[in-house]
Amino acid sequence: MSKDQELRKSAYEEIEKHQSLVESDPYRLHYHIMPPVGLLNDPNGFIQFQGTYHLFYQWMPYKTDHGAKLWGHYSSEDLVHWTHEEIALTPSEWFEKNGCYSGSAIEHDGKLYAFYTGNVKDENGNRESYQCLAVSEDGIHFDKKGPVAHLPDGYTAHFRDPKVWKQNGRWFMVIGAQTEDKKGAVALFTSENLMDWTHAGILAGAGQEPLGEFGYMFECPDLFDLDGRDVLVFSPQGLEADGMNYQNVYQAGYVTGTFDSEEGTYEHGAFTELDHGFDFYAPQTTLDEKGRRLLFGWMSVPDQNEQDHPTIAHKWLHNMTLPRELTWQDGQMHQQPVQELEALRQGDAVDHQVSLNKESRTLDGVHGKAVELMMSDIDVAEGWMSVAIGGNARILYSRGQQVLTLERQSYVDGTVEKRQVEVPQLDSLRIYVDTSSIEVFANDGACVMTARFYPSVQDTSIRFSSSAAASFYLHKWNLAKVF
Ligand code: FRU
Repeated sequence: MSKDQELRKSAYEEIEKHQSLVESDPYRLHYHIMPPVGLLNDPNGFIQFQGTYHLFYQWMPYKTDHGAKLWGHYSSEDLVHWTHEEIALTPSEWFEKNGCYSGSAIEHDGKLYAFYTGNVKDENGNRESYQCLAVSEDGIHFDKKGPVAHLPDGYTAHFRDPKVWKQNGRWFMVIGAQTEDKKGAVALFTSENLMDWTHAGILAGAGQEPLGEFGYMFECPDLFDLDGRDVLVFSPQGLEADGMNYQNVYQAGYVTGTFDSEEGTYEHGAFTELDHGFDFYAPQTTLDEKGRRLLFGWMSVPDQNEQDHPTIAHKWLHNMTLPRELTWQDGQMHQQPVQELEALRQGDAVDHQVSLNKESRTLDGVHGKAVELMMSDIDVAEGWMSVAIGGNARILYSRGQQVLTLERQSYVDGTVEKRQVEVPQLDSLRIYVDTSSIEVFANDGACVMTARFYPSVQDTSIRFSSSAAASFYLHKWNLAKVF
């Protein structure tokens, strides 16, 4: 049996062996992408190819920890219902033996081209990285072409996560990098034929204006046009917490500016975090056939108490965010759950016109483990208003401080922890609860907060409170279980 066949066989055996344990977990999600067993991290190769959406993912099927990753694969016609496909890539060759790491997909001549990083470590732990290509006719079976881009001078071997696109008749690739003086950077490559790639310099980086001191490594870069501006998304490592910003172990965010495809240069502004919650990293976007810029993020952060998640007892770990549509409105990025997700709604909405006055209450028909809450026309005249989910997570808006807070009971030690973001005025909140995950979209997605949380299994409560007069209109839907 070849190494590839062996790795596939043992991954499928792991699924089968642990299926009932995995599925019996009350914290298993109902409508978010999860691994069938083991650990999932970054979204990879997100593309709509010949009409079908494909989302590949970093997958360690043999344990709930990181290691020599495979590319797992889900496909979907509607971004709501997903089919777990055959394994796309296993780390079976010398140039990827310690992991088929993150990368992207493009369509060319009717074929799907997947670019990814071959991670290699020798006996002494020294790292090598190769940017590799694998080509597929059907989006399912891949033909590996091996390394196509090599490590240029000036960088360490922390060089990974190629994202490829075409512009003005040329191919471009951005790669997450670390320079030899240990600064995070995004490297640019160009190609005429997708096989031969030339290094074209550093596109953006720590130690370069305007970022200045900005960490020791950038992962998962993604450069794209959003309504006329060039957005560069990346995940920097090594930033110090700064007030409400950069509270997680590592960050994920973006800068905007102008990419000169002739010169291979990028003028850009300051960094903004994409998500202000606890669990969001390594997002990747694609442009779909409707012309929408869609994003999936990994709902976790590397090295952030990963081994303390209770789902480990059920042999699985981590999930994706919901698919989000990106738009640029009123000078800022908005992220909203894709419209297709309305298909999850079961039956009619429960509606309430709610006025709170220094009280804490539940509302008829408003409870559940897998729900969507749409709160609009929010008016918090003074003081604060909050929504508590399952007695464990709480969204709180303080009118006086103009701050939106997401709190949860830590799954490590039960203490209450929080993440915060300035929101001068809160008009709407769209909240997706899915047993052990919460995604909060404030003000039509101008501000997003994402987290895993672990309420007690019986607790389906949703409780609304205020310190003074507050009112809003509420729609609530139960959401279907599609996983
Ligand atoms: C980000 C990351 C990538 C790497 C992959 C390995 O979470 O560290 O840089 O390609 O995960 O699984």
